[in-house]
Amino acid sequence: MKSLRKISLFLWLGFSALPGTNFAAENQKPPMEGALDSAPVNLYGRDTLDLSGTWQYIVDPMREGLYLPRKGIRHFADDSPREGNRLIEYNFNYSPDIQVPGDWNTQVDELFWYEGLLWYRRTFDYSPNDDKRHILYFEGANYWKRVYLNSTPLGEHEGGFTPFAFDITDELKEGKNSLVVAVDNTRRAHQIPSLKFDWFNYGGLTRTVHVFSVPKTYIQDYELALQADGSIAGMIQLNGDSPTEQEVSLKIDELGIDVRGKTNNDGVYRFSFTPKNLSRWAPSNPKLYAVEIHNGGESLSENIGFRTVETKGQDILLNGQPVFLAGISVHEEVIGSSGGRAITWAEARALLHEVKALGANYVRLAHYPHSEKMLKLADELGLMVWSEVPLWQELTFNDSRTFDIASQMIEESIDRDFNRASVVIWSVANETPQTEERLTFLRKLIDKMRALDDSRLISSALDKNKEVDKTFRVVDPLGEYLDIYSVNTYEGWYGARTPEQIGELNWESIYDKPMTFSEFGAGALKGHYGPESQRWTENYQLAIYRETLELVNRTPMARGISPWILKDFRSPRRYHGFYQDYWNRKGVINETGQPKLAYDLLQSWITDKVEEQN
Ligand code: GCU
Repeated sequence: MKSLRKISLFLWLGFSALPGTNFAAENQKPPMEGALDSAPVNLYGRDTLDLSGTWQYIVDPMREGLYLPRKGIRHFADDSPREGNRLIEYNFNYSPDIQVPGDWNTQVDELFWYEGLLWYRRTFDYSPNDDKRHILYFEGANYWKRVYLNSTPLGEHEGGFTPFAFDITDELKEGKNSLVVAVDNTRRAHQIPSLKFDWFNYGGLTRTVHVFSVPKTYIQDYELALQADGSIAGMIQLNGDSPTEQEVSLKIDELGIDVRGKTNNDGVYRFSFTPKNLSRWAPSNPKLYAVEIHNGGESLSENIGFRTVETKGQDILLNGQPVFLAGISVHEEVIGSSGGRAITWAEARALLHEVKALGANYVRLAHYPHSEKMLKLADELGLMVWSEVPLWQELTFNDSRTFDIASQMIEESIDRDFNRASVVIWSVANETPQTEERLTFLRKLIDKMRALDDSRLISSALDKNKEVDKTFRVVDPLGEYLDIYSVNTYEGWYGARTPEQIGELNWESIYDKPMTFSEFGAGALKGHYGPESQRWTENYQLAIYRETLELVNRTPMARGISPWILKDFRSPRRYHGFYQDYWNRKGVINETGQPKLAYDLLQSWITDKVEEQN
């Protein structure tokens, strides 16, 4: 196997070294195994070497490190090449420091607007145990990556917000190891998101990196879901040397559950059991149970909640009871004057505590899979979650690469978060155009989502809804394939209407399904006051909230809100030098967490809405 890899590696390097290499080939999958189809679940339940901390970096705007030109610069995979008599024009030992996790934009002034290729390197000591396999796990990094360990390319990954992992058993050495990662945040038309989106294109190893050991045959994945009949159905999946016909077991001591069995020819054990006296997870009772999974060589545990979510006509039912999703939208950006993507447990807690402070029972984690930390905390805090992949507005719906990336992101997101009771909605897209290609594209993705997880609801944030005589009608054909249809509406902000004129509007729909207002709001510069007729004032934003919340109150099929947005956030598309300065100012709190006038109104509306249900 090793010799095969060496040959294929040589061929691949040789090919990529040809002069005038077609840079589009940069995204070709190098012929290397090692990249796992999906990352083993439950990172936080594993004993890992966390590689957070100081790494070195090299900026490579001309992408030379990816190729072995005929002479001169060597392949950057090599940690710190021996100078000797060859001309070597890079050396990580003489390169500047950068922190991981973190985006390069808010760490290095010269890289604030950088979009391109950047190389990371760190070394670490390890003592690989021969009767184990060894996994290199990335929580997430934006956008395209190629990973090398001890100068051997392991493989690549595309997508900025989901985990990926490599089996490094063959490449890991005793003692010092050198990890080199090429990260490229260049926007490309076929990527997801595409060339244009309304958040900052933070690049880099934005989430943590870990190394951990597993038995030769290890626990890859497990899923548990409470069924309508009160049973819990699930599966345990093994990976590694001999995953089939293996003894596995699952225990929930608090429920007196201990199921055991053997994996099938696919390495999977499927089970079902009916617990007695189950305390169901709900925002008012975020009950989590300690679940233990065992196979011959390892035991994993994590806290998991059990609840059901479904729709009935225009109602959303949580554990069989109608529920109104009263919350707000959140981007994954640190609260503070610099912003930035690196979410530690403290920063995740700070964001979700702001959501709880509004009295919310719900949060839209926009526009991409947030850190696993956010989902674990939502479980603990009792926040229902809308989770989504970054299919945002215009995409190349007729490009097969785009579908493949979307499909991969959905799989990685559902794989990682299947056991999070807080996730009640998977959203497939945001404000995508109502074309035939888009409908075909999204229907296939929805089918895939339902095949991966039929225990949750599927939605999408729709815009361009049809207005006839001040009544908006949801006529988007995508609605037919959704469990919940959601609308983004900015009447009174985009377009000529005043906040007061929202009072003349109504919503109706051709779908007898629950609806949520997935976005509404207005920009306001914190501390800028004036008449309610003056845009960009806190007073204007307050008027928009007052009028739109009234609109929600008179919309009979409304079953949720996630106004846009909790906190002002960085965006390259918000150019006004006084009101915005490259910040989207629709937050009800500004970037340092100071509440605007609309905050109190929203807080009392949400608090009343949640209390009505308890
Ligand atoms: C859109 C979009 C958001 C964007 C917001 C805005 O609806 O979904 O990503 O930030 O509107 O215009 O501020």
